[in-house]
Amino acid sequence: MSRASNRDAKEKKTDAKSGQVSRALQAPRGTRDFYPEDMRRRTWLFEQFREVAAGFGFEEVDAPMVEHLDLFRRKAGEEIVDQLYHFELHDRELALRAEMTPSIARMVIARQGAMRFPIRWFTITQNWRYERMTRGRKREHYQWNMDVWGEPGVEAEAELLSALLSLIDRLGLARGKVKIRLNSRALLEESLREGVLRERPQVFEPLCVVIDKIDKIGPEAVTEQLCDPEGAIGLTPDQAARVLEILGARSLDEAEKYAASDSPAIAELRELYTLLEAYGIADQVPFDASVVRGLAYYTGFVFEAFDAGGTLRAIAGGGRYDRLAETLGGKPVPAAGFGFGDVVIGELLEDEGLWPELLPDVQDIVYAFGPAEKPAAIQVATRLRTQGRRVELSLGKTKLKRLLGDADKSGAERVFLIGEAEMSKGVVKVRDLAEKQEHEEALSSFEG
Ligand code: HAM
Repeated sequence: MSRASNRDAKEKKTDAKSGQVSRALQAPRGTRDFYPEDMRRRTWLFEQFREVAAGFGFEEVDAPMVEHLDLFRRKAGEEIVDQLYHFELHDRELALRAEMTPSIARMVIARQGAMRFPIRWFTITQNWRYERMTRGRKREHYQWNMDVWGEPGVEAEAELLSALLSLIDRLGLARGKVKIRLNSRALLEESLREGVLRERPQVFEPLCVVIDKIDKIGPEAVTEQLCDPEGAIGLTPDQAARVLEILGARSLDEAEKYAASDSPAIAELRELYTLLEAYGIADQVPFDASVVRGLAYYTGFVFEAFDAGGTLRAIAGGGRYDRLAETLGGKPVPAAGFGFGDVVIGELLEDEGLWPELLPDVQDIVYAFGPAEKPAAIQVATRLRTQGRRVELSLGKTKLKRLLGDADKSGAERVFLIGEAEMSKGVVKVRDLAEKQEHEEALSSFEG
């Protein structure tokens, strides 16, 4: 390496004046490296997602992380659209997915004629959003999605809510530690139909996006945005006050006061709660009219799972989105689903001390004292591997003391030791770490 490029490399590593590690050596802000101990947790969590989804008869699908930007562009003023990681390449505008739902919709539309509905699909994907970071909010996160396509009835939501709570149970969180707050956008839509939505039904999507911000910016700022004469919604102050009043309802009986006597939305809510009773989960799914969700495409039920302590942001969120396929150019298909992130649940498991102890997944360790014993050690390791054991073959000049110390901590079951003495007797020494016992086995039994 020339002197100049040597210096370049050094400067890249550390900024000489500040001593700071250069930017290129850090993961971009809001993204994570997964070291083995992190990866063990991630794998374990994903296994729980997969087990629950399988228990409900859902099949796993996947799609590219990069899509055409147009798949994600929507006009309702959602944060998620402004947060897209997008770029131009060879005259194509592309974006990293911020959520899985549009890709799933694209996949359904592509085979719409040949699909046998209803379909039940689940995904586990990494999603990218250029977020302002706070606790539980990163610029990449993994999300478990479960979606039902082609079922217009509330049975779909009941299955989804039950699956979500099954996961919560499976993670060891006590009943009541997580609540799913449920509302119906259809109810809000009904109550505004006689007013602003009669002339301008298109304002409903941006209206939901604005009222979703109420916890973040407060009721005054929301009212201001709803009534902004230059804005997309343009409610009168009376109409805005009525919207905020409706959001205050915390029980179905209370919500009923704002609905027509024959309200289909109330009837659907009652139907859903009857099913939730049958699943034994109605008490874990309180009605809460303030939940509207920040994504424009929801049309019916909307729900968000929260830790009951209320210290963390939403663990999961979802709802019904019967018009998304149509909006994207497909034929209409009803759909409902949810997304469940890995970040917030990880923090809750940490706070509750519920992460299981996860050790490296090695069962047997094979150790040769010197180069002369290496071929025999390789033979032993190879034989064990063909038997389906997970085997670590010690490399180079690892000290036996260190290896045994590590093996004890790692959860390995056995250590196979081969030195000069073993070679001359044609055996391998097998140490059982749990029983703290040793025995010998003939090397010939590891041949072939
Ligand atoms: P979402 O509410 O935007 O919904 O995200 C779902 C969950 O993903 C959130 O509750 C949260 O746990 C996690 N999440 C979202 N953004 C971040 C972030 N920046 N950092 C960490 N975690 C995050 C959706 O994405 C919908 N597509 C869900 C859906 C599926 N609806 C119907 N089907």
